Amino acid sequence: MIIFKTKNELQEYLHVQRSQNKKIGFVPTMGALHDGHISLIINAKKDEMLTVCSIFVNPAQFNDKDDFDKYPSTLGADIALLDMAGCAILYLPSVNEIYPNGVENAISYGFGKLETVLEGAKRLGHFNGVGKVVGILLETIMPDALYMGNKDYQQCLIVKDLCRQMNLSERIRFVFCPTSREADGLAMSSRNRRLTEPQRAIAGIIYQCLISIQSKYSSGGNFAIVQKECLDLLRAKGFEVDYISLSDANTLEELAQYDPNKKMIALIAAKIGNVRLIDNMMVNE
Ligand code: PAF
Repeated sequence: MIIFKTKNELQEYLHVQRSQNKKIGFVPTMGALHDGHISLIINAKKDEMLTVCSIFVNPAQFNDKDDFDKYPSTLGADIALLDMAGCAILYLPSVNEIYPNGVENAISYGFGKLETVLEGAKRLGHFNGVGKVVGILLETIMPDALYMGNKDYQQCLIVKDLCRQMNLSERIRFVFCPTSREADGLAMSSRNRRLTEPQRAIAGIIYQCLISIQSKYSSGGNFAIVQKECLDLLRAKGFEVDYISLSDANTLEELAQYDPNKKMIALIAAKIGNVRLIDNMMVNE
């Protein structure tokens, strides 16, 4: 695997690869890689892409300084994992390389209602920061395909909209990959490694709640009831619940009740100790 730390060197290399008709598959990350990230690399390789992974902990998207400071950094292990997965290129820029004129002067995109609900409501400015960095990374790399994980479903919709605003929708193919899960259903996340043993032992309950919401729909049940049951269960186990939401999967407009005429998604965000976990599941495919 070749590691580039500057935009110019990366672009020069990609230019040569493109002239040899290679297609570029891009996997943006903030490091602390796990099997979920690696599944994105594997998907890109399956599509015969020259795989570029970026690792950049983006200060612009953290509304909580403590979360930024505590964000795990495991670069040595990340490089080993990417190497093993057969990733071709790692882009490892500095803050100055990404934001040469400062974070506040980077191009800022607006996402309307999409950035104000769910994660956007709880983490003010988060998606603005995601938009800034992904915009810069896409401009730098200009991939043929972009691989992202469905665990961050709202982020996937934001990035899709970002590409529309950047007039890249025709050029970049989106591949949103299924969430990788631990044996108990816990969605893989870099934050999971901050869970204590007892916290880890109960973290899979979020997944069980999503399954309950999905199966309640299949059995003709009532969303408000299952929502309350999940809330009580999570609280009883010590979670601080940010939301248990049923939403329109296209717009993330919140739904009060199951609606078979809509593509629906259930989304949960809850904190255990000081670790905030999010997960989601399609209710009707
Ligand atoms: O999902 C992430 O790890 C980040 O939000 C991303 C897309 C790499 C942007 O910093």
